[in-house]
Amino acid sequence: MSTHTITVTVNGEAHTQEVEARLLLVHLIRENLRLTGTHIGCDTTHCGACTVLLDNVPVKSCTLFAVQADGRSVRTVEGLEGAELSAVQQGFKAEHGLQCGYCTPGMMMTATALLERNPAPTEGEIRAAISGNLCRCTGYVNIVKSIQHAAEQMRAAKGASPGVASGARETVATT
Ligand code: FES
Ligand code: FES
Repeated sequence: MSTHTITVTVNGEAHTQEVEARLLLVHLIRENLRLTGTHIGCDTTHCGACTVLLDNVPVKSCTLFAVQADGRSVRTVEGLEGAELSAVQQGFKAEHGLQCGYCTPGMMMTATALLERNPAPTEGEIRAAISGNLCRCTGYVNIVKSIQHAAEQMRAAKGASPGVASGARETVATT
């Protein structure tokens, strides 16, 4: 099996590794770098538990080879928290957006990318964004509320007008 020397920046820190060509990105993250917040739920691109941000775009890290991240930037759930919990983390805490928590890291990475590109998503846009992240526990209602909560907090922090904030929050469907 051929090996390659790659350098991947993970949560702002550059890591140079000698890896086999077949190594999956999720295994680089979990096993080589010991960042086990990124979960593996299926290994077949279905569940989204392994979602990380690659150059700020959500990807399923079980579906990419580590060598495909060479020279690029990866953000994992461990990178969300700074001096305090991120707005998305606070939203999931405030609105009870998790039960077992297995899907939560991937869900929060997808939500983070959504809110970075769209600070005022509609409920439909939130549901579309997380459609690749499966949750077997919550029924999604509280996850949607959590992301809406985070969006409101982020807009408030940026001093967005109340009209924008209130306009984005819709009634959450119960199914
Ligand atoms: Fe990657 Fe399920 S573990 S999509
Ligand atoms: Fe259990 Fe989502 S909280 S799978």
